[in-house]
Amino acid sequence: MPMPKILVIPGSTRTGSHNVKLAALAAKELTLIDAEVTRISFADYPLPIYEADLDARQPANALALKQMIMAHHGVFIASPEYSASVTPLLKNAIDWVSRVRERGDPTYAAFKGRVFAIASASPGRAGGLRSLMALRQILELGCGAFVIPEQVAIPNADQAFDEMDDIIDTGTANLFRAELQRLVDMTRLMM
Ligand SMILES: Cc1cc2nc3c(=O)[nH]c(=O)nc-3n(C[C@H](O)[C@H](O)[C@H](O)COP(=O)(O)O)c2cc1C
Repeated sequence: MPMPKILVIPGSTRTGSHNVKLAALAAKELTLIDAEVTRISFADYPLPIYEADLDARQPANALALKQMIMAHHGVFIASPEYSASVTPLLKNAIDWVSRVRERGDPTYAAFKGRVFAIASASPGRAGGLRSLMALRQILELGCGAFVIPEQVAIPNADQAFDEMDDIIDTGTANLFRAELQRLVDMTRLMM
């Protein structure tokens, strides 16, 4: 059976980011369940704040990001929570990817025909849950993506990982693994 290609994206580039840690853990776990994993950082795709007058310029990094997503069957996003929503960094990247078009592309080409999974980590008590609600709305309603229903929000993120950067709480760790397994299973069905 061919291995599903999964792209892992943290919605933060902060030094010491909990969501970069969560993305790294997702990449490790996905590899263990036979996915071919690529992990990227938005730091490698700097983009201006989206503005419609810039559309015609089709920034190279927006195209590169879109092509990177399209080269994978599934996408995992670790989403921090800012002001009860997603980070501007993540929203801006999604907006750009939703706008750049190459010849023959249907609308929202990078979002359709692949499987998305989302999770969050926050030092707060809700674990960034509201960012997941916002992200699900953006991806599903805004971009026509299929997002699996399983999702994990990790509260008290500053104390949630051990020295190996694994999730300490067994129940949460199991839920996270189950989410990733479902991502791989659903991705296989869509390949
Ligand atoms: C502008 C701003 C708004 C924030 N709003 C929230 C919030 O609504 N809920 C929450 O749980 N944390 C909030 N936080 C705290 C972030 O969750 C925290 O900084 C987290 O570490 C960011 O993710 P990262 O570690 O992956 O960079 C906010 C942080 C900033 C800078």
